[in-house]
Amino acid sequence: MRPITNIEDLRVLAERRVPRMFYDYADAGSWTESTYRANEEDFQQIKFRQRVAVDLNNRTTRSTMVGQDVAMPVALAPTGLTGMQHADGEILAARAAEKFGVPFTLSTMSICAIEDIAAHTSAPFWFQLYVMKDRVFIEKLIERAKAARCSALVLTLDLQVLGQRHKDIVNGMSAPPKLTVKNMLNLMTKPRWCWNMLQTPRRQFGNIVGHATSVSDLSSLSAWTSQQFDPSLSWDDVEWIKKRWGGKLIIKGIMEVEDARRCVDSGADALIVSNHGGRQLDGAPSSISALPPIVDAVGSRIEVHMDGGVRSGQDVVRALALGAKGVYIGRPFLYGLGAMGEQGVTRCLEIIRNELDLTMAFCGLRDVRAIDRSIILPPRAPDW
Ligand code: FNR
Repeated sequence: MRPITNIEDLRVLAERRVPRMFYDYADAGSWTESTYRANEEDFQQIKFRQRVAVDLNNRTTRSTMVGQDVAMPVALAPTGLTGMQHADGEILAARAAEKFGVPFTLSTMSICAIEDIAAHTSAPFWFQLYVMKDRVFIEKLIERAKAARCSALVLTLDLQVLGQRHKDIVNGMSAPPKLTVKNMLNLMTKPRWCWNMLQTPRRQFGNIVGHATSVSDLSSLSAWTSQQFDPSLSWDDVEWIKKRWGGKLIIKGIMEVEDARRCVDSGADALIVSNHGGRQLDGAPSSISALPPIVDAVGSRIEVHMDGGVRSGQDVVRALALGAKGVYIGRPFLYGLGAMGEQGVTRCLEIIRNELDLTMAFCGLRDVRAIDRSIILPPRAPDW
């Protein structure tokens, strides 16, 4: 096999190994995918300032995110249906993250349940919560996350309504996949994926099994999402959830300064500048372009994180240079998972850390916490 040298190599391998509908589910953005593309492309506009003759011994990528020690300031983003990229996907990704020393965030819409992750890991992980109309159900999820020793709650606010991804509709996306002739033919070309799936009993949406309206496949899931997710979500709900949870709270899906200020008012520990990886509002700006004004406005009062389009350790350095205290990766670890299971997620993290470490060194820095705007050209973000 060709050596895996970068995230693109993992993507190509995942495309070969994961059934079309699940690969597309991960790879898709909403509508024209312009925001999905901008997330990646805008990073390339940020250029580094090279420095020389600086002592580069004893470099470190260690930092903290919401007060927790991390091997590098990079967390695995919450992603739904991760268990369809690879059997037991959430467990494998959580294990890889734990061994590496970075946070794993379990999505509400995962295949493996909160309790499955707790049973297969020993480090605390993070739980991502969507706000649903059924508040009793939310309370139960919060209690389950507490019982599983989750050390932060990531509250996603940008999915009051669901973005449309054409590829999922064209593919007739469902989990487990419907056994149509087209799908059967595609599955026959993915023997490794099928074999792994047959070895594991987990096919359900582990966190929402037991909800009054049962969900057994993704066709019903879109309808379920529309019915259950709360279009009337407000900042009062954030306050209510914060009180119920009582621990570290990270608010995800912030793109505007006004909303960032509301996060500060809510008493959250961190916010994530995110457009959901270009899967919700197509036509929104890239996350990296939305980051600097938010850092300027609230960066001294709340930890600002970001995600969307990070495809290398260089992108991590760019985001940190623009003021992010932490960065999340979604698709890169899903590609690693689809390509090579747990080993692929580990490889993804190794690639990112190596690129992060070398880029930092080329810029004349030894400590990831010292990265600031002085290492990029122009010193402030380009005018998007
Ligand atoms: C997501 N994302 C997401 N976010 C969230 O809060 N809850 C979720 O269940 C999901 N599900 C999900 C599924 C898939 C397949 C993807 C790709 C993304 C968004 C995710 O947390 C993150 O914001 C983006 O993935 C970041 O962009 P990149 O790194 O994928 O470019």
